[in-house]
Amino acid sequence: MSEKLSFVQPTPNSPWGTYLQQVDRVVPYLGDLAKWAETLKRPKRALIVDVPIEMDDGRIAHYEGYRVQHNMSRGPGKGGVRFHPDVTLEEVMALSAWMTVKTAAVNLPYGGAKGGIRVDPKKLSLKELEKVTRRYTSEIGIIIGPHTDIPAPDVNTNGQIMAWMMDTYSMNVGGTATGVVTGKPLHLGGSLGRVKATGRGVFVTGREAARRLGLDLRGARIAVQGFGNVGSVAAELFAEAGAKIVAVQDHTGTVVNENGLDLEKLIPISRTVAGCVSFKGGEVVPNEQFWDVACDILIPA
Ligand SMILES: NC(=O)c1ccc[n+]([C@@H]2O[C@H](COP(=O)([O-])OP(=O)(O)OC[C@H]3O[C@@H](n4cnc5c(N)ncnc54)[C@H](O)[C@@H]3O)[C@@H](O)[C@H]2O)c1
Repeated sequence: MSEKLSFVQPTPNSPWGTYLQQVDRVVPYLGDLAKWAETLKRPKRALIVDVPIEMDDGRIAHYEGYRVQHNMSRGPGKGGVRFHPDVTLEEVMALSAWMTVKTAAVNLPYGGAKGGIRVDPKKLSLKELEKVTRRYTSEIGIIIGPHTDIPAPDVNTNGQIMAWMMDTYSMNVGGTATGVVTGKPLHLGGSLGRVKATGRGVFVTGREAARRLGLDLRGARIAVQGFGNVGSVAAELFAEAGAKIVAVQDHTGTVVNENGLDLEKLIPISRTVAGCVSFKGGEVVPNEQFWDVACDILIPA
């Protein structure tokens, strides 16, 4: 009845391929609503932009950026922006679709969207990072806005980047537009508790799952893959509840301590460029061994 999309080639394990299978799995339970499954299998709008910037050494570099609005039937698009060299249109499409499902599942008046730039921000100076962010925001400015699509922080983006996005959008529309992004700094209209909100959500979900399973969090062993904004905050909250963080993995490698890692020391070190492997209070092991560490709760963050 409907053609497959020509602009992505999903495989069974790729992000969009995984999402399509998830839609197929729920179709038998949808009754009359099943006729909308095809709508969920295509994004409403997908924008690909070139992000050219002048580097500190005078070269002109180009980065590929995306903003995908999967569905906005229930409200403005909502979803983060990630900066990562491996981001693809397909990945952003899948993440935008999962945002549609997530906002609907908790009955928020938002749709689903997501954005990204194929860039390694760790290789940019602060000035270059600002230029990439501002140019990207200008390019996607034709489809974002407080009533259409509201970006937020995601992998490798934070309050500072949201502030640049808000400022660029505001400059372009000729007025202060605080509502164009969430995750802004407090003094620009951001919300108290936002920085820790996602990690706290992971903790609350884990705590409730443990309660239902009869698992006592005191002494429970936790392994965390991805130790940025979400993973490190979730780890802190589990540790506060008496659990032991026995393994942590970030992009620099894996550190393990069966007796529990000292988060007060590990977190500040993991935020430096040296990452979690420079922490001395545990054993650094090859990444594959992360999966051999015995744990009660695994947090993929
Ligand atoms: N920040 C938010 O508010 C938010 C909201 C919703 C969902 N999320 C999701 O939470 C996840 C983490 O986001 P974040 O904001 O903490 O990002 P972040 O950039 O703060 O942290 C990402 C972490 O992942 C690690 N990492 C990157 N590549 C890795 C690899 N190949 N192997 C192991 N570790 C690797 C990094 O070193 C870093 O510790 C993402 O999937 C994101 O979509 C975040």
